Amino acid sequence: MNIVVSGIRPTGNLHLGNYFGALKSFIRMQEENQCFFFIADYHSLTTHPTPADLHGNVKNVLVEFLACGLDPEKATLYVQSDLPETAELYLLLNMNAYVGELERCTSFKEKIRQQPQNVNAGLLTYPTLMAADIIIHRAHKVPVGKDQEQHLEMTRTFANRFNRLYNIEYFPEPVAYTFEENLVKIPGLDGSLKMSKSENENSAIFLADPPEVIRKKVMRAVTDAGPTEPNQPKPQAIENLFSLMKVLSDAETYDHFNALYNSCQIRYGDMKKQLAEDVVRFTEPFREKILELSSNEEYLRKVVEMGAEKARISAQKTIREVREIIGFKSF
Ligand code: TYM
Repeated sequence: MNIVVSGIRPTGNLHLGNYFGALKSFIRMQEENQCFFFIADYHSLTTHPTPADLHGNVKNVLVEFLACGLDPEKATLYVQSDLPETAELYLLLNMNAYVGELERCTSFKEKIRQQPQNVNAGLLTYPTLMAADIIIHRAHKVPVGKDQEQHLEMTRTFANRFNRLYNIEYFPEPVAYTFEENLVKIPGLDGSLKMSKSENENSAIFLADPPEVIRKKVMRAVTDAGPTEPNQPKPQAIENLFSLMKVLSDAETYDHFNALYNSCQIRYGDMKKQLAEDVVRFTEPFREKILELSSNEEYLRKVVEMGAEKARISAQKTIREVREIIGFKSF
């Protein structure tokens, strides 16, 4: 059986990018694999959240995991910081992670650009912590969006380096996984290539957004004056709207607006109205469950306790074996 591991950072509510890039695969994978899905709260400390925000965001993600259909009886759902074994493995991996390779990582370079006033060591070593998350359970598959591809490559480097250094085939090589043909990247409503929360508030639609907020955001999405010649290539912002329509609307709807675009008859207002209704329809069942679960503190506590217990069994075994391999022996 495959071991599957993945996590999501608690930085607010989950958006459509998180859902289609990762969560949708989590839900399918839990049926036939041994899955560990966690809330990456250690990782979220790179931006220095307040204690209240941190806890609130962890709760949001937990509620949204459950509302979307993750089943704590099938998959192990846990909070990263409930597994200090991850932090120990992170320390050990850092000894063989080179500053040069960490500095070359695309996400690190992006963070330097986004937050030049806060380039901390946690940002630099983000990929080693992520590798620790994955190999602590000796995972084979990691369902993630396209933006995490390089982190997975680095995880394989660190796992292989450990194996070579100690001359043992201990860690498997984990691969990024999706049920789609390629890893997914959901674009933003603001014309950006990736829907994300941190860059621009209007770029992302959250699973918990009420219908009127969804409509407002979609109607405000960036467009242009429209095509002037038949079959003209689509500018990025327009391509983004069509990409969103491809995942959220049915095929006929997509084809209808695509044909209108190609014959220069498209009215973006009509297209956005349709897209907004399709997003509202898609998110409706999640929204209801999110509301219902948010007030059930007792159940949420049970879920994380059970998850931590199950995750610890796997993590403690790995740490015990890794310590032995490294040569930390008891007298
Ligand atoms: P994070 O929290 O930024 O995103 C969580 C997951 O959502 C995916 N995602 C997207 N997919 C498609 N289109 C988008 N616009 C989009 N935005 C986000 C991400 O690819 C990711 O799968 N480093 C990870 C968290 C993490 C992790 C791990 C993941 C920590 N440890 C171990 C896997 C295994 C992150 O920052 O994801």
